[in-house]
Formats: sequence, structure tokens, C-alpha cells
Amino acid sequence: MAALDVMPASSSADPRRPLQNQKALVTGANSGIGEACALALGAAGAAVVVNYVSHPEEAERVVGLIRDQGSEAIALRADVSRENEVQAMFAEMIKKFGTIDVLVNNAGLQQDAPFQEMTLQQWATVIGVNLTGQFLCARDAVREFLRRGVVPAVSRAAGKIICMSSVHEVIPWGGHVNYASSKGGVMQLMKSMAQELAPKKIRVNSVAPGAIKTPINRTAWDTPEALTTLLKLIPDQRIGEPEDIANTVVWLASDLSDYITGATIFVDGGMTLYPGFATGG
Ligand code: BGC
Repeated sequence: MAALDVMPASSSADPRRPLQNQKALVTGANSGIGEACALALGAAGAAVVVNYVSHPEEAERVVGLIRDQGSEAIALRADVSRENEVQAMFAEMIKKFGTIDVLVNNAGLQQDAPFQEMTLQQWATVIGVNLTGQFLCARDAVREFLRRGVVPAVSRAAGKIICMSSVHEVIPWGGHVNYASSKGGVMQLMKSMAQELAPKKIRVNSVAPGAIKTPINRTAWDTPEALTTLLKLIPDQRIGEPEDIANTVVWLASDLSDYITGATIFVDGGMTLYPGFATGG
């Protein structure tokens, strides 16, 4: 059996920049986890599209930070739940960067309500962005991966998709039924795509964050009382940082994880380990 290279194919020039010559698109990249992913992919050598839907000045700020690290970056606006806007964004990316190697399907939101009060609008908006948005972006990325195929000097894969899931792809979440349903859907979207596309050398995986310190869950950590309650759910006893997620995303995008597809990596400080059972049961 031939020995596998221990380092990624694309790292020969500079092992600190394993994504050199690769083009990445991160949706919802102007804040929170998406911003951290865009910065980390840029630091790893990728040219990065910073997608946003509102606050263009925040997207431009992220673009500036990536350029300061010596990688190319541009900001592109698109609402990922709208087919025409997604298609226009991919066309623009391919015009500017030539292709796409890495998609980070990150854009997501919460619109919480008790079940009996949840409106169809709240349901449809969350499913539209968190699930349909991931489908639409993945479909355009896959079309380009298939057109281009594997370029061995760049990566062993024809393309890599990293879906931003959540611990709520497996943990039910009362009061957030639309959100938990969207992330359960992301799990099967990711796994079914991974199964179908592996023969084409396209890898599809998820990162499932637990409680990460970002604007989406500010009320869960911004008072000492809220933080104390939250930490009861986290065996590691700390809230996660966006960089915890971004580091995992870079690794999943690189050839260091070339044999991994269809996997969800929980980055959650143990939140999925049923912490109540540490003392009960
Ligand atoms: C949600 C956060 C929540 C975390 C853990 C995430 O997917 O967006 O609001 O704090 O899951 O429950």
C-alpha cells in the first residue's frame, strides 16, 4: 500500500498556509462565527468572498482584515434564501476569482417563539435562511466543483463544503422549534450530499457549535446570572469563542482531513454529553 503524504498536497510551498491558491466563500461572514471563519481561511492562504446581507461596512471591515494578512478578499451581498441572489453571487465570485474550492455554509439566524405563538413567517424565515440557503449555496458550489474537477496541485478534492450546523441538530430545543428543525435538516442535507458526491471527490461535512460567544445568543452570556445558568450545560465550563469553530473549519477545508466526509464535528465543550447525568441518573 502506498504511504499517504502526512501533509496536504497544497502545503508544499508553505505549510502555514495550507489553503494557498484556494478560493473560499463564507456566507454570513460580516460578524460572529462567519467572520472568524473568513479570517482564519484568509490566514491559511485562501482568497475569501465575505458574503453579507446587511451592514456592508462590517463586511468591508472583514475584507480589510483579510487583506492585511496578505490574502485576497472581496465582499458580496446576497440573501442566501433567494435563488437569484445566490446565483448572481456565485457568478460574480467566479468572474473575480476564477472558481471556488471551499464553501462555508454559515449564514443563519434565530427567530424564537413559544410553539403555539410561532408564526408561519418565523418558521419560513428560519428554514429559508438556515436550510434552503445552505441548499442553494451548496448547489451552485457543486456545479462549479463538477465543472472544474480535481486540480492536484491545489487539493486532493474537487471541492469542500462545510455546513454550519449546531448542537441542536441532535438536541431538541423548546421555544426554538424552527431553529432546531432547520439544523436537523442541515444534518441530512449534509450527509445525503456527502454520500452522493463522494465519488466525485467532493467532501461535505458539518461543524456543530455549542454555545459560542456571538451576537446570536447574547442574552445567554451577557449577564453573570445568564452565564452561570449556561455553564451548567457545558462540561468544559467555558463559553466557546468563534476561533474554536474557525480552526475546525480550516482543518475540514484542508487536505489534512481528506478522508473525512459526511461527518459532524461537535465543537461544544461537551454540551452534547448529557451534562445532567454527570451527577444524576
Ligand atoms: C444557538 C445558540 C445557542 C447554542 C447552544 C446555537 O446553535 O444559535 O443561540 O446558545 O446553540 O444552545
